Amino acid sequence: MATTRKPSRPHYAGRHPADPLTPYGNRPMVTPIVNAVNYEYLDFEVLRQITDGEIDGYTYHRDDNPTVRAVEKKIAALEQAQDCVVCTTGMAACTMVYLTYLRAGGHLLLFHDIYGAHYKVSLILERLGVEVTWVDATDWPRLERQVKPNTQMIFLETPSNPLCKSIDVAAVKAMARRVGARVVVDNTFATPYHQNPLALGADLVVHSATKALGGHNDLMAGAIAGSKEDYDKLWFTRQAIGTTLDAYSASLLERGLKTFPLRAERMAVNAMAVAKHLVQCRGITNVRYPGLKSFDGHRIAARQMKRGFGGMLAFEVGTTQEDAKRFVSALRVIRHAVSLGSTESLICIPFLTTMLYMPPERRTTFGVKPNTVRLSIGIEPVNDLLSDIDAALGKLKSRSRA
Ligand SMILES: Cc1ncc(COP(=O)(O)O)c(C=O)c1O
Repeated sequence: MATTRKPSRPHYAGRHPADPLTPYGNRPMVTPIVNAVNYEYLDFEVLRQITDGEIDGYTYHRDDNPTVRAVEKKIAALEQAQDCVVCTTGMAACTMVYLTYLRAGGHLLLFHDIYGAHYKVSLILERLGVEVTWVDATDWPRLERQVKPNTQMIFLETPSNPLCKSIDVAAVKAMARRVGARVVVDNTFATPYHQNPLALGADLVVHSATKALGGHNDLMAGAIAGSKEDYDKLWFTRQAIGTTLDAYSASLLERGLKTFPLRAERMAVNAMAVAKHLVQCRGITNVRYPGLKSFDGHRIAARQMKRGFGGMLAFEVGTTQEDAKRFVSALRVIRHAVSLGSTESLICIPFLTTMLYMPPERRTTFGVKPNTVRLSIGIEPVNDLLSDIDAALGKLKSRSRA
């Protein structure tokens, strides 16, 4: 059981201890950036106590760093987890999870509709002797059939990237339990403000902290939250392969976390308004936002997500990729860029960006079309976003009339 009994308060978690550099040992308001690679030992007994795990202490940055540790405790509190390991990127976090828990001859079940780079990692895992199967979130009978005695892990995103499909985490866990497989949920799209997968039954939760946790397009980081036992295992992997985050990025991430709940709330409110608006717009079809009652995954999302439905949506523009490109190019407030969860609204065509990692024939197998766009809503005044969309669609229409 990875959840803590009492809900912790992220603002107070991971507070830096009294700083010996301040005259009376009073606490700095901001966790200091400790850029040291190594730490001088007071004597051999202290070295022994640290290496034997008897006392908390720092020896070498690849092992641990106080600025990073403070952020880990805050993210653990946000995810209601016992602990958290932070690392260099979201994909580093996913790969650390794979390396820690998968073995040659074991089986990994992946949902098609997840971040495209997993396709590349799956090729590496296959080279190492792991059997990989891809399933569609909407094909439940196939998923049931694919859970086999050697299945070691089921990895999913809900809402998924880019189509925001909802997956019932508790139902997947019930299936996984039959064969002792671990359920790992990438919670990047939902964010811990809206959803806590551990409380829904997942064994581990993964984040690209590059996204809403950081929130300002200025750092890359990953996070894995779970039980204390999982922390120890994942810490071992990070220390061995050297994916420890640098202290400066950790400090930026801590700064991002201070406003994270405010940003997450605003993004969801904006996203709901944008989704409702898009449904009314001519030239836009298949609006996919978990908060829309008409959305096929709404009921599952409503059960799993609290306080709103996140800031991510997807939809189709016109009928061709040229239509989608013209729409994206005509936007002025919403910026054409990859990544998500930042203060600015960002739009991209997954076919040409996040799914480039996959062979073209695979990009359409689970519902993404050449004219599908993915929109990450920011914290701008919502009317600016709505007028930007209307103006861009207006330009599309006037062009097609000309
Ligand atoms: C849902 C999701 N998970 C993981 C990643 C990978 O994160 P990073 O780019 O920090 O490696 C991304 C990147 O876009 C993502 O969208």
